[in-house]
Amino acid sequence: MDLNILTLCYLIGSVTFIVGLKMLSNPASARNGNLVAAAGMTIAILGTIFLYRDEAGNKLGNYAWIFGGIVIGGIIGTLSAKKVKMTAMPEMVSLFNGMGGACAALISIVEFNHLHHYLENSLDTTGASVTLMVIFAGLIIGSVSFAGSMIAWAKLNGRIKDYSFNVQHIFNLALLIAAIGFSVYITANPLVPSYWFYVVFILALLYGVFFVLPIGGADMPVVISLLNSFTGVAAACGGFLYDNKVMLTGGILVGAAGTLLTILMCKAMNRSLKNVLIGSFGGNKTAGAAGSKEPGAYKEISLSDTAVVMSYANKVMIVPGYGLAVAQAQHACHELEKLLEAKGVEVKYAIHPVAGRMPGHMNVLLAEADVPYEKLLEMEQANDEFPTTDVVLILGANDVVNPAAKTDPSSPIYGMPILDVELAKTVIVNKRSMKPGYAGIENDLFFQPKTSMLFGDAKKVLQDLIGEIK
Ligand code: TAP
Repeated sequence: MDLNILTLCYLIGSVTFIVGLKMLSNPASARNGNLVAAAGMTIAILGTIFLYRDEAGNKLGNYAWIFGGIVIGGIIGTLSAKKVKMTAMPEMVSLFNGMGGACAALISIVEFNHLHHYLENSLDTTGASVTLMVIFAGLIIGSVSFAGSMIAWAKLNGRIKDYSFNVQHIFNLALLIAAIGFSVYITANPLVPSYWFYVVFILALLYGVFFVLPIGGADMPVVISLLNSFTGVAAACGGFLYDNKVMLTGGILVGAAGTLLTILMCKAMNRSLKNVLIGSFGGNKTAGAAGSKEPGAYKEISLSDTAVVMSYANKVMIVPGYGLAVAQAQHACHELEKLLEAKGVEVKYAIHPVAGRMPGHMNVLLAEADVPYEKLLEMEQANDEFPTTDVVLILGANDVVNPAAKTDPSSPIYGMPILDVELAKTVIVNKRSMKPGYAGIENDLFFQPKTSMLFGDAKKVLQDLIGEIK
């Protein structure tokens, strides 16, 4: 009876996970999607704790440890999720993802010890190789994900810097081959001393560290998404070991979602995954040494002129970028939008898929300020609307509006789809200086006759602009 109810709990967990994931694809349903999936997983976890029985009919027990862990982890997770700033989201995702990888690796360690103990006593190794293969897959992938995510986290919050040496890629490959080689050896000879297993564990951890260390700090979101998919696959290995359907479903879905997201991010930046993993784009750049051409002359616009131009426009398109997130200017931005709308100006937002530093960064940022979803146009829609737009106000965006992506084959962003802001009548760019953005390259848009620069921190500029328009 208990086991039937447990199977039902797992079914509910799996279905709610799939439904929740689907709901996450739309900003309007994303919050509820998260709750639906979390509720389903809670049911699956409680079902496991109270209903699971082993072959001898014993329940789990160890309740003090289990609930102690849940309470401590729950408090830490809740407090850090409440405290985290939007700009620090990638590093938090990285930290949490690393914990998932560590769990998957620990499952492999525990299950290896069980199996090894059993094999040493029974000396019957029939059927052990399949289990060992899954254990090693979980161990290697989980350890790489854990170590890599910890390095990504430390790089993103500035604790460590990018680091590489001459033959790093060969060294990394050697680590990986050695880890896989020893795994194959132990799988073929399951009775070898168990310390060989820990050699694989250490090699996988080292690979995780050296795999992420050289990657340009700003490329970290792509790597984190890749590591996220690794954690999913490692968790699926755990599900396979325990014959736990909900872990298997969850793991496979996380693995697939992480892989798709990685591919989509690379596509949106027009870069190959290989280029992200072994290229230096976005890493080690110095802001001043960016442009390859002589910069032209740019013109500035005053706050009062900006206020006039915007107040008398029929249609304004706001292009948010990373700088808007840095300045935490989303609320001021929404206030400006409402003020202009009250004056009869139509205001919309043009959202580039890789604006900011994480997928959906601008959507989340603007949702935080209660900007209505229907005002957010995807890139293709926005590009259709620029020719009928009077004023484009660019707030802390740079690469995503850089025409070099279309005109300069030598540019590192050549081929990346961009927002065609220059099709509008007037372009006003707010940023603090003429420094480049993430790609470290000059932006010709700033020097075009249609464009005017409005320098300053986005939040301060927006607040002053609101005062000026009022
Ligand atoms: P960026 O090209 O990085 O430009 C951001 C601009 O914001 C900078 O030029 C900076 O200029 C300005 N800025 C910084 N702080 C500011 C502040 N307080 N107030 C006003 N402006 C400020 O940003 P983007 O256009 O959003 O493009 C995103 C880039 O990140 C793309 O190259 C993309 O490929 C890359 N990327 C994105 C993702 C995802 S998934 N979104 C992942 C990895 C990489 P100043 O210093 O002069 O102010």
